[in-house]
Amino acid sequence: MANVVRDPREHPEALISDLATNRVAKFTVDQIAFVYGSLWKQRYFTKVGADYYPLGAQWEVKNHVWSKYFVRPGTDWWAQYYPPNNMARPTGPTCDGCHSVGYDIRTKQVAEWNVGCERCHGPASEHAAHPTQRNIFNPSRTNYVAASDTCIQCHSQGRPLTIPIEGKYYDWPVGYRVGERLQDYWKLEEPTLGRTDFYYFADGTAHKNRMQGNDFVQSIMYRRGITCFSCHDVHGTNNYAQLTKPADRLCLDCHAPLSPNGPRTATLEEHTHHKPGSAGSQCIVCHMPLIESEGPANTFVHAHTFRFISPQLADQYGIPNPCTSCHKDKSTTWATKAIKNWPERSPWRLQLD
Ligand code: HEC
Ligand code: HEC
Ligand code: HEC
Ligand code: HEC
Ligand code: HEC
Ligand code: HEC
Ligand code: HEC
Repeated sequence: MANVVRDPREHPEALISDLATNRVAKFTVDQIAFVYGSLWKQRYFTKVGADYYPLGAQWEVKNHVWSKYFVRPGTDWWAQYYPPNNMARPTGPTCDGCHSVGYDIRTKQVAEWNVGCERCHGPASEHAAHPTQRNIFNPSRTNYVAASDTCIQCHSQGRPLTIPIEGKYYDWPVGYRVGERLQDYWKLEEPTLGRTDFYYFADGTAHKNRMQGNDFVQSIMYRRGITCFSCHDVHGTNNYAQLTKPADRLCLDCHAPLSPNGPRTATLEEHTHHKPGSAGSQCIVCHMPLIESEGPANTFVHAHTFRFISPQLADQYGIPNPCTSCHKDKSTTWATKAIKNWPERSPWRLQLD
């Protein structure tokens, strides 16, 4: 997380695309003040006066193609308040608050670019001079709401309670500091049940990236005090997504067979109905399907509601189904029939008529 925003003059290696192949909206390296991102997509900012603006093309990392970068009306809520032109959309209000520490809305200066220590631990100069546990915020020593809000301040789609703030449309929780109530600054986007829109599927599962917070607060795990950092160690690990353990072992710490947390079967195979070690036996393929769009075509991230989306619900609302996303040659009717033979499953919950 520490390396999203980089200046290509200081870090030439940060520029992972070949600008010569960009025919979407040409620009030169001299125009780039910052490159943004490297995992799913890379965007480019130019600087005019004290403000940065997004250039009109992005590099799709997995697809190896350039595509237009422009936030269309009817997508992000703030787009309607800006003229339809990237050079009229400074990144201070729309981006920088989540990609820096201490963005000052008056001076437009940051204390530091990217997700530095103080973004999650609060002001630390006193702590650095006299390190004790009392003069630093530790997200693991607070209530479960403030704990996960340390992450949800950036990993969510929402809007400030006051719109606009001093005439500007901010897409991040201006003024919030870790340990405070995020709800005093920020309102999560709300799903309209029964309707799929830019942000949500019709069942309330997120439809796009950067919505782990919107998803996770719906889960039973959240209500039982599990936090984002029960599973992720943001100081860095060798696992995908900074997981504390590889995904196939992570869940089992709390979900061994017959655990009171579930599954309530004597073996995991009786729960998954797939051979141990096979692709279909992995917890995340059914409980965290790759359905949330990262923007570029065919680039998805995992749902974090942990709900199983049944084949019936998927049909009813046009949500991708975990069974048939993997069994691509089969229908959802086939999947429903298969689940009917799973004796431990409730037909009421999975609409198995
Ligand atoms: C994205 C948020 C985030 C960032 C950035 C971050 N931390 Fe943390 N840090 C946490 C969380 C969450 C915990 C609690 C983790 C746990 O106990 O599971 C933690 C715990 C710690 C602890 C352990 C404290 C204790 O008493 O056990 C130390 C030390 C620490 N962080 C230092 C740092 C330093 C130094 C940096 C910057 C280089 C940093 N952190 C950056 C979120 C963050
Ligand atoms: C200041 C905003 C901010 C905060 C606070 C924050 N994140 Fe992030 N996080 C980001 C950004 C930006 C990225 C994109 C990283 C990239 O492109 O390398 C990211 C990426 C991630 C990733 C996936 C990418 C990877 O590194 O493999 C995970 C997992 C993650 N964050 C977890 C957390 C958790 C858990 C917390 C809370 C302890 C947290 N984040 C707090 C902004 C934030
Ligand atoms: C509310 C906080 C927030 C705002 C506002 C925000 N981002 Fe992000 N951004 C994140 C987080 C968190 C991630 C990583 C998690 C994810 O994408 O699911 C991310 C990821 C990214 C990535 C992908 C990184 C990669 O390695 O592929 C890019 C590029 C990016 N943001 C650019 C922008 C731009 C440009 C804007 C303004 C138009 C913006 N962001 C506004 C929080 C934010
Ligand atoms: C119960 C465990 C668990 C919790 C809690 C959890 N995550 Fe995750 N997260 C995962 C797993 C597993 C993956 C996918 C890893 C894989 O594919 O190997 C993941 C992936 C991610 C990614 C990378 C994008 C993607 O989906 O591939 C981000 C960013 C992320 N999580 C952020 C968060 C944030 C922020 C929270 C809290 C709001 C959170 N996670 C809570 C387990 C968890
Ligand atoms: C740190 C412990 C912990 C970890 C790690 C963990 N869980 Fe959980 N999980 C819980 C607890 C506690 C509950 C709530 C049990 C209850 O009260 O019924 C729960 C509940 C659930 C539920 C039922 C929720 C519902 O909405 O019906 C699912 C599904 C689930 N977890 C999946 C996972 C998956 C998948 C992983 C791994 C990516 C995972 N869990 C990792 C502790 C954990
Ligand atoms: C092939 C699909 C599939 C796989 C793989 C899978 N589950 Fe489930 N899981 C389900 C279904 C279906 C339900 C029932 C959902 C409902 O009732 O809404 C469920 C329910 C649960 C529940 C809620 C309690 C219960 O028993 O109903 C927990 C906890 C859970 N799963 C954990 C896990 C864990 C941990 C793994 C990995 C070892 C896993 N699941 C792998 C399909 C799967
Ligand atoms: C990530 C991929 C994946 C997912 C998701 C998945 N499966 Fe499977 N499935 C497999 C694989 C691989 C096999 C063959 C190995 C085995 O039996 O475990 C299989 C075998 C089966 C079989 C027995 C062989 C056959 O084709 O008749 C059935 C039935 C089945 N899956 C149903 C389901 C249902 C229902 C779901 C959703 C709840 C599901 N699967 C989710 C990969 C997956």
